[in-house]
Amino acid sequence: MPSPSKKFFVFVTRRFADSGIKALQKAGHRVEIYEKDENIPRTELLKRVKGCDALLPLLTDRIDAEVFEAAGPQLKIIANYAVGFDNVDLVEARKRGIVVTNTPSDAVNESVAEHAFALLLALAHRISEADQFAKAGKYTGWSPTQFIGTDVRGKTLGLIGAGRIGSMMAKKAVQGFDMKLVYADAHENLLLERDYGAARLPITKLLQQSDYVSLHVPLLPSTRHLISTAEFSSMKKTAFLINTSRGPVVDEKALLRALKTKRIAGAALDVFECEPAIDCDLTDTLELRTFLNVILTPHIASATIEAREAMSMVAAQNILAIFEGKPALTPAK
Ligand code: GLV
Ligand code: GLV
Repeated sequence: MPSPSKKFFVFVTRRFADSGIKALQKAGHRVEIYEKDENIPRTELLKRVKGCDALLPLLTDRIDAEVFEAAGPQLKIIANYAVGFDNVDLVEARKRGIVVTNTPSDAVNESVAEHAFALLLALAHRISEADQFAKAGKYTGWSPTQFIGTDVRGKTLGLIGAGRIGSMMAKKAVQGFDMKLVYADAHENLLLERDYGAARLPITKLLQQSDYVSLHVPLLPSTRHLISTAEFSSMKKTAFLINTSRGPVVDEKALLRALKTKRIAGAALDVFECEPAIDCDLTDTLELRTFLNVILTPHIASATIEAREAMSMVAAQNILAIFEGKPALTPAK
């Protein structure tokens, strides 16, 4: 007979979709949630984690040695409420035997892929620009030449990063919109090659061929500024860039130069290099917001009911697994 299971303490840095919270409580664990509807201030975080067995932070919380120290040696798991986990110091965690998990469930991946595809369509059909125009009362009658965009059918989508999210975007592009597909990834994705006729290319070749380039890589030292001046120079002048991954994957200053010199046709960004700021350097890049061929969304690619509930459940299931001495479901890797 297993002994009655031990009760643990879970600290959650902000209130969110509560299915996971309920699952943790139902299992009898003590869950404390930072009360205010704001990202937890650093000092508060360091105070509140004391004694916790599991920490459930957001991607905006920096989780490092200082936090591990503040929590204490009983800390077993960081269950990051995000697919990305560049906010967590994995090396420090590993040193201390703390498990780190993320939330790559189908619902989250789907939501991000849909958002990326929505941005692609919005760029092609100039939705955001036309919306601003119509709302500003500028529409005076149908015109044969106004807001001419391009169809996406037959165009080439270049995926940089062909993991789960990239693959879901690929499906929409090929099966839904008859696009051609090329991808760049450290790993071969045979499914994309077999089912969608995708070719795996070096990044430069991919950039030369693609009409839309969509980024689906994690932020790592090797992917920081992956898209910079040389990469923009390789792109077609008619091509668009879509970033729903992490801001620093794109060199924003280089993007701005590419836009100013019309090196590329436009961009859609859900993530920013100096988040939460839309521009890192006010004097230089404030302009990013002024381009009509640039669409900006405030890091909302996973902001759907389905995705946020799934993230909550996956985070909780990871915590429960560790508490029960089982392996994590989705270790960060
Ligand atoms: C959102 O950016 C996430 O990583 O889940
Ligand atoms: C994220 O889950 C990815 O693999 O792209």
